Amino acid sequence: MQEENYYFSKAFKYQNGFLFCENVSVGEIKVWLKNQGIARVTPAFVYSKSQIEENVLSYQNALSALKRNTQLNYALKANFNPSLVRIIKSLGCSLTLVSGFELELSLKLGFQPENIVLNGNGKELWEIELAVRNGCLLNIDGMFNATQTTSVCRKLQKKARILLRINPNIDPMVHKYNSTGIGGSKFGIQKEDLNDVLREIESEPLLQLVGIHCHLGSTITDIGIFRECTEMMSQLFSNLKNEGFEHMKYINLGGGLGIDYTKHIAMTTDPETINGMETKPLVIPTPADVVKVIDEVLGDKDISLILEPGRSLIANAGILLTSVLGVKKSEPKRYIVVDGSMTEVIRPALYSAYHHVDICEPSQVEDAHKMLYDVVGPVCESGDFLGKDRYLTTPHEGCTLAVFDAGAYCSSMGSNYNMRARPAEVLVNGNKLELIRRPDSLDDILGPYNV
Ligand SMILES: Cc1ncc(COP(=O)(O)O)c(C=O)c1O
Repeated sequence: MQEENYYFSKAFKYQNGFLFCENVSVGEIKVWLKNQGIARVTPAFVYSKSQIEENVLSYQNALSALKRNTQLNYALKANFNPSLVRIIKSLGCSLTLVSGFELELSLKLGFQPENIVLNGNGKELWEIELAVRNGCLLNIDGMFNATQTTSVCRKLQKKARILLRINPNIDPMVHKYNSTGIGGSKFGIQKEDLNDVLREIESEPLLQLVGIHCHLGSTITDIGIFRECTEMMSQLFSNLKNEGFEHMKYINLGGGLGIDYTKHIAMTTDPETINGMETKPLVIPTPADVVKVIDEVLGDKDISLILEPGRSLIANAGILLTSVLGVKKSEPKRYIVVDGSMTEVIRPALYSAYHHVDICEPSQVEDAHKMLYDVVGPVCESGDFLGKDRYLTTPHEGCTLAVFDAGAYCSSMGSNYNMRARPAEVLVNGNKLELIRRPDSLDDILGPYNV
């Protein structure tokens, strides 16, 4: 068990050995879910409203201090739960999207279409058509995407406001699955192909080039990368203006800051393993640092700035609650088997991501002490783990564990694999609780099939 009073983040803290989200203990959340008629109360995602607000406002306050037009676009793919997206909308954000259904949802939620960006390296014609009809901005990813957009515009006899997604060939020094702006990536337009795409745009009056976009990769922690990229984009912006693209207005920088997933690694790592390991918290630039660097580089150029964080707005605002099914020895390993799995938190299986895992209440096991465990789920895959080699107090059966920093790319990447029900989602606001997603029923899973 953790120290008596320990803060994971502002919204998630331990008091006398019990984990709280804002003013509500995790135990109370489980009881509340039961009282809502939910039979299986875990796994469940729990989100903090105040943490989302704080994250968004830290970007918004920095942006609103600038003397240029700015737009904060939440990358919806991080988490599309409409109740969470409404909070983000109420704080003045627009959206960056990667599919037609994401666009349908955004329109339902009342976002202004002209501030929405449809991004993606492989858009279907109906998705482009939906975006053009609604007057959204479109990031053009390459030649075929430019010709697709031309054909849609001609069919609709409607102009499209487009940005070119540039591949800047910069190594963001992150996991290769999170790196998007390095040479050879499937995303964006490489320097040597840019002229061909520009000629296509020049030849089609319905394509109106209004800006350039670039996405380096996710989980970035080095501010120098934002500087380098903005310098390149700022130069390209001026070149395009000089070449006669008179509608150029936007620089759109995709991907936000990384978050420090490992900041509490020392608390659950074996003292022997930890010897010599780097356990100091990462020094992650603040949103204000990033905004300042970008603005400095853009200087007094008349450029509107669009920033597109996803993860740093929502990742630390959510946890996954899961209950212990049992503890198992399989020499030389020990496992804590829980009811949460890769179907809720796939990042460890997908790219060996670290998520902090800890128990949420004092263990009821007699003489419980810390041992080295892998925390694993029930899914029939050896890759189904939530944490490996964690130094955790032996928990009792039914004990609640939390997987932290699960607000981004967890629920939205969730699946029904093994015919598992996607879980309940709860929003905490002070001491108020709201069920923002009920768990799947068997009918939800079987509905589309001929059973
Ligand atoms: C174009 C674009 N913008 C924004 C994001 C969001 O990145 P993150 O959630 O790491 O901030 C992504 C994610 O890959 C993206 O592809």
